[in-house]
Amino acid sequence: MTTSTPRTFHVKSFGCQMNVYDGERMAELLTAEGMTAADERETADLVVLNTCHIREKATEKVYSDIGRIVKDARREGGSAPLIAVAGCVAQAEGEEIMTRAPSVRVVVGPQAYHRLPAMVAEAAAGGRSAETDMPAEAKFAALPKRRKVGASAFLTVQEGCDKFCTYCVVPYTRGAELSRPFADLVDEAEALVEGGAREITLLGQNVNAWSGEDARGRPVGLAGLAEALGQIEGLTRIRYTTSHPMDMDDALIEAHALNPKLMPFLHLPVQSGSDRVLKAMNRSHTAEGYLRILERVRAVRPDIALSGDFIVGFPGETEAEFAETLQMVEAARYAQAFSFKFSARPGTPAATMDDHIAPEVMDERLQRLLAALQRHSLAFNKTSVGKRCTVLVERMGRHAGQWLGKSPWLQSVHFTGDVALGDLVEVDLIEAGPNSLSGRLVARAAA
Ligand code: 5AD
Ligand code: SF4
Repeated sequence: MTTSTPRTFHVKSFGCQMNVYDGERMAELLTAEGMTAADERETADLVVLNTCHIREKATEKVYSDIGRIVKDARREGGSAPLIAVAGCVAQAEGEEIMTRAPSVRVVVGPQAYHRLPAMVAEAAAGGRSAETDMPAEAKFAALPKRRKVGASAFLTVQEGCDKFCTYCVVPYTRGAELSRPFADLVDEAEALVEGGAREITLLGQNVNAWSGEDARGRPVGLAGLAEALGQIEGLTRIRYTTSHPMDMDDALIEAHALNPKLMPFLHLPVQSGSDRVLKAMNRSHTAEGYLRILERVRAVRPDIALSGDFIVGFPGETEAEFAETLQMVEAARYAQAFSFKFSARPGTPAATMDDHIAPEVMDERLQRLLAALQRHSLAFNKTSVGKRCTVLVERMGRHAGQWLGKSPWLQSVHFTGDVALGDLVEVDLIEAGPNSLSGRLVARAAA
């Protein structure tokens, strides 16, 4: 049993970008307590597993990770690190983790992680605690000010979901929709830019449902927030994810024409192309309704890169209904997309629906869907060849002098040249694959 206060920590985040954001904020909290981040989990006194509950596979990973941490420590003859489980599995299965994994000393849900340092201190003193309350306030106000960040930073503006799609655990793990106040977001964005961010991605489970009041007390939506953030000097790019089709309002669509800092990229999941399945999913839009939204977006921003999410093998999905999903892919023309096999999540309505689809049928449908999506990604990327665009340098590549950055359309672009992380550079796009492009550096762009 750990009895001394941990000096080093390692946060491992699974799942969505909001978990990445939460993981960074947890790291900032622990750093503010005087602890140091360890690059490797093997050398850390405290390991925080920031978990994802969205699909069964993601959840299982937590238990196998816990087992591996304990086993590694035993093999090396040392004492096991203090293990904390955070995130959505902690929220949904807190009690079960406490009984199933005695080596876990702290369980903290996504709305309570501002309490992590206090809980770690308790655990270090020999205790064990779980905190999965979902108070709608407190957390953000209790977090330290943002400091050093990368060129591209995340900013959670909205959490939770009231949509209750029948397959999804998010409304249960993250709670009701909640928008963070406008002024807090402007402050945090300014701190991020001061800390080195050139690009900010606004995050929310339903980010386009964000609403608030601007500095003059006028009601604003996400478009208004993006406009205000666009005034921050040094911030050059704004993105947002994930959006719900029903919250795609006129102002946000217009913003893609009017706000020069809003990047031409839209992640707008549709999940299925079949109206029967969409209804059973409680998606509250039809395939046609979704396509009409895309038409409106493309009317103001013809080059927009579209992204989406799909679920194959929803209970009762017939071959003909799946074929409608493939038709949706052809009609919508995705630049990139994520697709998943349906996973029955305990407590969701879909888990107890009739006619679950056999795993091998799901596998086969997933392969066909992936092939169609891959074809579209390649086609989209090929349309970029020959264009000159601005790339934000985000990482070093594998080879000496090679760099990796993002185009305005969120394509990964690699190139060589004399640049630095966080630079905005002009690149000629010369070759396209389904997942990335290669380019030739032209010049550093004016900031
Ligand atoms: N099974 C499979 N995929 C799911 N998603 C959410 N819940 C499930 C589930 N039970 C997918 C949806 C969502 C993305 C984040 O994860 O496509 O948009
Ligand atoms: Fe889940 Fe649907 Fe809410 Fe997205 S909109 S988080 S899929 S319930």
